[in-house]
Amino acid sequence: MSYIAGRRVVLGVCGGIAAYKAVELTRLLTGAGAHVSPIMTPGAQRFLGQTTLSALASEPVQTSLWDESSPIPHTRLGQNADVIVVAPATAKIIGKLANGISDDLLSATLLATRAPVVLAPAMHTEMWEHPAVRLNVKRLDDWGFHRVGPDEGRLAGGGDSGVGRMAEPAAIAAAVQSLFADLLSDDLAPSRELAGRRILVTAGGTREPIDPVRFIGNASSGKMGYEVACEAARRGASVVLVSTVDRAVPGELSNIDVVRVDTADQMHRAVAEVFGAVDVAVMAAAVADFKVSNAASEKIKKAGGPPNIVLEPTVDILAELGRTKTTQIVVGFAAETHSLLDNARGKLVQKNADLIVANDVSAPNVGFHYDTNQVTLVDASGDVDLPLMSKQRTAAAIWDRIEILLARRSAATGRST
Ligand code: CTP
Repeated sequence: MSYIAGRRVVLGVCGGIAAYKAVELTRLLTGAGAHVSPIMTPGAQRFLGQTTLSALASEPVQTSLWDESSPIPHTRLGQNADVIVVAPATAKIIGKLANGISDDLLSATLLATRAPVVLAPAMHTEMWEHPAVRLNVKRLDDWGFHRVGPDEGRLAGGGDSGVGRMAEPAAIAAAVQSLFADLLSDDLAPSRELAGRRILVTAGGTREPIDPVRFIGNASSGKMGYEVACEAARRGASVVLVSTVDRAVPGELSNIDVVRVDTADQMHRAVAEVFGAVDVAVMAAAVADFKVSNAASEKIKKAGGPPNIVLEPTVDILAELGRTKTTQIVVGFAAETHSLLDNARGKLVQKNADLIVANDVSAPNVGFHYDTNQVTLVDASGDVDLPLMSKQRTAAAIWDRIEILLARRSAATGRST
């Protein structure tokens, strides 16, 4: 799915060694259907030939404010842009933008636009950490400029390593996709497609006690599960949310019933109680696969030496729902660090789920503590790769997919949607 097809992207390339990555970024943006108009600063032209970028972009590279064929190129580019991406963004362009200085085509275009701007900074760690740069970056962050990176890693010259490396082109392209996905979701009032439906969602990571003060847990924040529950409620469903975490639910969503649990066993019982009465169950929780069978009733003391902790398997709740479902749509998550799609397809079959939401939690800006996610929806009809976007927008895309499965199910069972 591309949210940038047909969008006009002005790509500003500044003078840094990372300028070579602008070639790959251009390829990704045009490949996703965007119209890319490149601008290179004089510094960029020392690192990268204009011809390379012109060959891959939708228009020839522009370099100067003083172009005889177009007397005011910066206003044309700035006013027509749907988004301006600056990659690499050097300390110099960040400084000019933060202080309203326009002395070349790129800086003038950046001032002559109302389009959103995405900056991908790249510079040496000392420059990134300089108080002047910190102040300029903060100012741009506060003004609502979008920023991707910089990452930590190898930098140009002498084997240096640190913060300042430009984000990878795929992450920058994903951020641009995400921007439009979010703008789109802001424009759209949620559908009421789920009115009359009963939905069960689990969220958060379970905690398996070792003794009254210690537990085995995991890093799940519950954000994704909450967004899934909230989106279902916005679409009119009545939702039971079985959660291990206390997060705020927007006040207007009175149709969410939160059931608080801690352990996998408690989650299992709460889920079993309502499953028979729901149309869809989305198991977004990170459930412990093992619990402590010899949990101590009193606090374990250090003086006794390392405790002998014995584990036993918990019930696989999702697999049980897959086994016992009748007309329900059962959705699972697969958070993986490797072999993402193979593992997700395996879970779809082994747990008899109707849909698996797969995410690679080792990828940048994805997973437990982030507000963004990048998932692939895996079901019997194939895979749908979604771009990196907010967890709210990801939840909306998951429900778009589940609504299709519900409509198919209703058609097959003769129930009206
Ligand atoms: N799940 C569950 N009950 C469990 C373990 C997992 O319901 N005891 C559900 C999760 O809520 C999620 C899906 O199964 O929707 C996949 O969980 P995951 O931990 O990725 O898979 P596992 O089956 O535990 O396999 P593994 O840990 O080996 O990847």
